[in-house]
Amino acid sequence: MKIVVTGGAGFIGSHIADACIAAGHEVVILDDLSRGDRRNLHPKARFYEIDINDPDVKQIFQDERPDVLNHHAAQISVSDSVRDPMRDAQVNILGTLNLLGAAAAAGTSKVIFASTGGAMYGEIADAPADEESPRFPISPYAVSKISAEFYLGYYRRQHGLHYTTLRYANVYGPRQSPHGEAGAVAIFSTMTLSGRAPRLFAARQVGDAGGIRDYVYVGDVVRANLIALEQGDDDVFNIATATETATADLYRMVARAVEFHDPPEFAPPRPGDLLRSVISSRKAERILDWRPETSLQEGVRKTAEYFRQQSGK
Ligand SMILES: NC(=O)c1ccc[n+]([C@@H]2O[C@H](COP(=O)([O-])OP(=O)(O)OC[C@H]3O[C@@H](n4cnc5c(N)ncnc54)[C@H](O)[C@@H]3O)[C@@H](O)[C@H]2O)c1
Repeated sequence: MKIVVTGGAGFIGSHIADACIAAGHEVVILDDLSRGDRRNLHPKARFYEIDINDPDVKQIFQDERPDVLNHHAAQISVSDSVRDPMRDAQVNILGTLNLLGAAAAAGTSKVIFASTGGAMYGEIADAPADEESPRFPISPYAVSKISAEFYLGYYRRQHGLHYTTLRYANVYGPRQSPHGEAGAVAIFSTMTLSGRAPRLFAARQVGDAGGIRDYVYVGDVVRANLIALEQGDDDVFNIATATETATADLYRMVARAVEFHDPPEFAPPRPGDLLRSVISSRKAERILDWRPETSLQEGVRKTAEYFRQQSGK
């Protein structure tokens, strides 16, 4: 297959591009390098440095005629979406629409879309959220991802463009940027490796264990994307572990992996932050035969090792 991967110079998209190439597919990457890194680009991928809002995207699709659009380019910061909802919508809604129009016009048969489970369901009080749980977007980022999901339904009905939406929990692993406000494992790894204790957000009160999150390893997320090339048409799946981890416990795991001993600081939630987000992926298990295979301990170890190598220590 020929697959366009948007955001293929970024964290998740670059792992997907690598895996698609390893599986024998042809990969074309669209990325404006606003957050991505040229070093993440697979040498066998054809690369276009372009904003997904650019009208020239249409010509690229006409020239390349991909079978599948794997859409991972996005404005990914919840805090930035709160500060600048217009910019968030520009990339995540209008950029997505630009791609969908180009894909439909070029005869692309399917879109795989990276949505959010972590932000989609709002505060999760008890059992992990499943795909039927009420959507409760408390940030512009979550609103823009839901909007894109609705547009996928529209393009399916109007243009026959199939889709699979994958709603990720908190994804972590090698190549995640430690420079944003998300990506706790990357941030904790790089800070502790440089001898600094990080600040943990989303504590209800000073001294508690911080927010509760569901961390899924990037290798497992990539596997879901490979399965979605062939299965799960016109459907939505959570990609998660249903395992609760308090931020302080995650910090302890990372600190142990890099042999750092200082305690972290604690701080209240930032605007748009959830206190508890845990997600069920039973539907993906049932229909796609996908389940997370990497334990948090193993994933943290691999990620910390990657950042140790990056730091030259
Ligand atoms: N990381 C997570 O925990 C998580 C969770 C849920 C959903 N997602 C979604 O997965 C996708 C990938 O996230 P990531 O963590 O790999 O982020 P990332 O920032 O590493 O990757 C995003 C890539 O998109 C590119 N990009 C941004 N705006 C662009 C634009 N206008 N035109 C072209 N390229 C642009 C960036 O340069 C970057 O390479 C995003 O859609 C994100 O919303 C991520």
